[in-house]
Amino acid sequence: MTLYRELDTIQFNDLTHPKDVSDFLKAIHFGKKAGFEEFKVDFSNTKAAFPNAVVPISGLIDFYNNNGVPIKEIGESPIVKAVHLLDPIIVKSERELYSMNSLNKVFKFTDSSHVFWLVNSMLDELNSSDKFEKGVLEGLEWCLNEVMDNVIQHSNSNCGFVMGQIHKSSKHVAFTVFDAGRGIYNSLKNSSFNPRTPADALTLSLQEGVTRDKKIGQGNGMYGLRRIIENNEGSLTLTSNSASYFLKGNKAEIFDRIPTLSREQGCAIVDFQLDYEKNVSIADALKFSGKSYELVNLKIEELENDKGEIEFNLLQKSSGFGTRQAGERIRNQLLNIHQQSNQVIVIDFKGVELISSSFADELLGKLVVEFGFFGFNNLIRMRNMNSLVQSIVQRSVGQRMAESIE
Ligand SMILES: Nc1ncnc2c1ncn2[C@@H]1O[C@H](COP(=O)(O)OP(=O)(O)OP(=O)(O)O)[C@@H](O)[C@H]1O
Ligand SMILES: [Mg+2]
Repeated sequence: MTLYRELDTIQFNDLTHPKDVSDFLKAIHFGKKAGFEEFKVDFSNTKAAFPNAVVPISGLIDFYNNNGVPIKEIGESPIVKAVHLLDPIIVKSERELYSMNSLNKVFKFTDSSHVFWLVNSMLDELNSSDKFEKGVLEGLEWCLNEVMDNVIQHSNSNCGFVMGQIHKSSKHVAFTVFDAGRGIYNSLKNSSFNPRTPADALTLSLQEGVTRDKKIGQGNGMYGLRRIIENNEGSLTLTSNSASYFLKGNKAEIFDRIPTLSREQGCAIVDFQLDYEKNVSIADALKFSGKSYELVNLKIEELENDKGEIEFNLLQKSSGFGTRQAGERIRNQLLNIHQQSNQVIVIDFKGVELISSSFADELLGKLVVEFGFFGFNNLIRMRNMNSLVQSIVQRSVGQRMAESIE
């Protein structure tokens, strides 16, 4: 048991499993039946927090608080505080996200500009955090946009909740989107697809062309999501209106009698995980009516100059030139650009007066080792380096190469 209720107090252990969400719903349900009208939550034992438990619980607490069931925190935990479980962040402008790492935090979103800002920011953060296999970042962007858009289009709730995480040790990313709306079964019930049960509605929603209303949607979103997960052999859990669909690799399982808010308020939880060391073939995954969907990478196109090179302005892209961490973030960005395009990359040092040796080593030294000396020379050009920066780069790259040859 990861959480238990004593009278009006719910004590949580780690928040790492979808079962925590069911247990929380049950605790409130039976607590209300026992006559309690408000509750206390105690997180003092919570040391780990994954999106699949954190996001729905955050959204549910928000829902209860706004719907006549006050929930108050009596025990704090640093991790629960850090992820903003009890105070999901509402961004008021894109600028707010510039200075924030948008992973590992719960956001509450209410409209399509929130979706746009958050997806951009979370992808930028991933892009700097590690090297992603081909197609993974594009696949993730598709999944996030579609799933968050569905909350706005179909949930009949005025908000959704999202959080993403990167697990570098196991090389996977995990995202969960939650809404306390009517649920997938209720939204599809009156359509021509006419699902018999909540479980039926989940499998239907993941098929190509299934939409509650052809005038509004095409029914591609959830289908594309499933295809991307299958292509990557990742995992997907869809929970709504008392049913849960679980896909791992190519094997799907369905469960029913899962607790939810109510028959009318069936909620929707979409949790997906991708292995970012395995590529995603977007052309294979996103085929609609047999035709491959072209994903145009606008971010890369924007960087292209008229010679067909990618121009990478270091001053604009880096948050500093002193630390290994800053160098590593830029190296990851360059590696990810290279995964998505084979063009020559020009690193423009204009305006960069000084860099530290560790920054140079982390960025350039390690890139030379990664690509090999000739590979590096074919792929990377460096422009507008002042003589001081040049000599620092020369020394640290030389050292790194000597080490790699030994
Ligand atoms: N969060 C949600 N709440 C309620 N219903 C949902 C939710 N997400 C999806 N659905 C239901 O699942 C159906 C399929 O979703 P899907 O994203 O595949 O298609 P669509 O949104 O209708 O069209 P498209 O994504 O191509 O614009 C939706 O039409 C809707 O009925
Ligand atoms: Mg959709």
